[in-house]
Amino acid sequence: MKDFISIHDLSIPEVKKILDLAADLKKNPIQNWLHGKSLALIFEKPSTRTRVSFEAGMFQLGGTTIHLSPNAVQLGVRESIADVARTLSRYVEGVMLRTFDHNDLLEFAKFATVPVINGLSDLLHPCQALADVFTIKEKKGLKNIKVAYIGDGNNVCHSLMFACAKVGLNLTIATPKGFEPQAKIVKPAFEDAQQTGVEIDILNDPVMAASGADVIYTDVWASMGQEKEVKSRKSKFKSFQINQQLVKLAKPDYIFMHCLPAHRGLEVTDEVIDSKNSAVFDQAENRLHVQKAILAMLLGGK
Ligand code: CP
Ligand code: NVA
Repeated sequence: MKDFISIHDLSIPEVKKILDLAADLKKNPIQNWLHGKSLALIFEKPSTRTRVSFEAGMFQLGGTTIHLSPNAVQLGVRESIADVARTLSRYVEGVMLRTFDHNDLLEFAKFATVPVINGLSDLLHPCQALADVFTIKEKKGLKNIKVAYIGDGNNVCHSLMFACAKVGLNLTIATPKGFEPQAKIVKPAFEDAQQTGVEIDILNDPVMAASGADVIYTDVWASMGQEKEVKSRKSKFKSFQINQQLVKLAKPDYIFMHCLPAHRGLEVTDEVIDSKNSAVFDQAENRLHVQKAILAMLLGGK
């Protein structure tokens, strides 16, 4: 694999290799595999976890990062995406890109001669979802697990569908009507799921989704770039809040997951996110280990 744009593009052995390597790196974090190598980071949107975990991760692998703010690069404005991709490819060994339009990421990858990593687009968040299944594997294993994703059928939900399908986790999604995952993702995700015998259900009922779940996962109701919809979405998503009443329907030892940042009091209550069942900070930590595995494979030939 040259790039890491979507989990759908990975074979099942490649996914397994990333998860295994991430587990090794979690035990032995400092390596010299990327000595002398640089990763450029381009963010068109804000970030805490993605930026810091990529920066710390490259450092721990012996390499370095170059952070480029949106204002500095102005992708497609100051110069074409293709020309930025061609230029950066002469300086660095890899580029991580966080964009609005997923097509910008594809365009960048098309012209870059070095690996391109999707650090989130409006369509997908693959680094997140691989860290998520790594976390589920650590805490629950992968056999006979019901993951319930309750909330917006967004980028995180899309990548979680691919990740669950590849590793064998059953997934029930519940969204308000009109906020289901996009058909162009559902189709290939169902194809991936067929290969592994995974069941993916898409419902509009949070109660059915939460019932008997081993994992309850949610994300913000309005993603970055949807700030204007915050108010209208609040009323549409109200009954999808992860609160004490809803999590009572899950298994007693369920884990709560959220990619963060969380909007406490909206998609999740303090009581749930701060409970002993909450895995959100372990989940955030695992971004580091999993991304290091991705970097080691793409930039370090592992
Ligand atoms: N979960 C995640 O990607 O967080 P950031 O937006 O802070 O990078
Ligand atoms: N769906 C969220 C995820 C943030 C990490 C967003 O795109 O803003």
